[in-house]
Amino acid sequence: MPSPSASALLLQLLLLFSPSTAQPGFISLDCGGDDDYTDDIGIQWTSDANFVSDGQKAKLLLQNQLLQQQYTTVRSFPPDNKPYCYTLNVTIMRRYLVRATFLYGNFDDSNFYPKFDLFLGPTLWTTVIIDDATTPVVQEAIILATAPTLSVCLSDESIGQRFISTLELRQFSDSMYYNTDEKHFFLRLSARINFGAESNASVRYPDDPFDRIWESDVVRRTNYLVDVAPGTERI
Ligand SMILES: *[C@@H]1O[C@H](CO)[C@@H](O)[C@H](O)[C@H]1NC(C)=O
Ligand SMILES: *[C@@H]1O[C@H](CO)[C@@H](O)[C@H](O)[C@H]1NC(C)=O
Repeated sequence: MPSPSASALLLQLLLLFSPSTAQPGFISLDCGGDDDYTDDIGIQWTSDANFVSDGQKAKLLLQNQLLQQQYTTVRSFPPDNKPYCYTLNVTIMRRYLVRATFLYGNFDDSNFYPKFDLFLGPTLWTTVIIDDATTPVVQEAIILATAPTLSVCLSDESIGQRFISTLELRQFSDSMYYNTDEKHFFLRLSARINFGAESNASVRYPDDPFDRIWESDVVRRTNYLVDVAPGTERI
């Protein structure tokens, strides 16, 4: 017979591991969106209105029926000389995945592809270069929180109109992605590949509890076959 405290512990463990619709440590912002909703893989999206103080909402002009709701709108920022930032609450000394996506969709009816820098806190994260109106650009970083808030900023150095489609934050469990210099650096994603995948479909939440997106290597194999000329060595 388990003692009462052992059963209490067991119950707590069950509660910890029971599937739940709430996702602790997840923030999923549908930029420029008005509604809160849950998508078909169970991610709870909210409007970005409480996380940024400026910018304009816009709907994509190029849309198709397959487009997920979070991609149908953007928030865009004026071409002045100010950076515009999202501020996310985090827990100090926890590590987070930060994912920002950008689907242009000709939201400004100019067919002029923007280019702008993205900052994570004070540090340059990457340059977002749009070269296609209907494929989202995805940027991802893994960072240790060293302050109670984390800011993601679209810099003033921009060509065309700065905008953002989604901003996601995922909290990792304790030791994941520990690295020795993490107070001074963050990790920027170059690729995350699911080798041996059987289809083109990527793997993410809920199969990956931290909602990392694992790209199928089937897509890559197809690309290689297209890219690599006969007789060329593959590296
Ligand atoms: C972030 O934290 C501050 C201070 O605790 C709180 O006032 C604010 O409501 C939080 N913001 C969100 C969006 O949860
Ligand atoms: C993967 O996508 C490529 C290009 O869209 C397609 O040619 C191929 O048949 C797909 N493969 C599978 C296994 O779905």
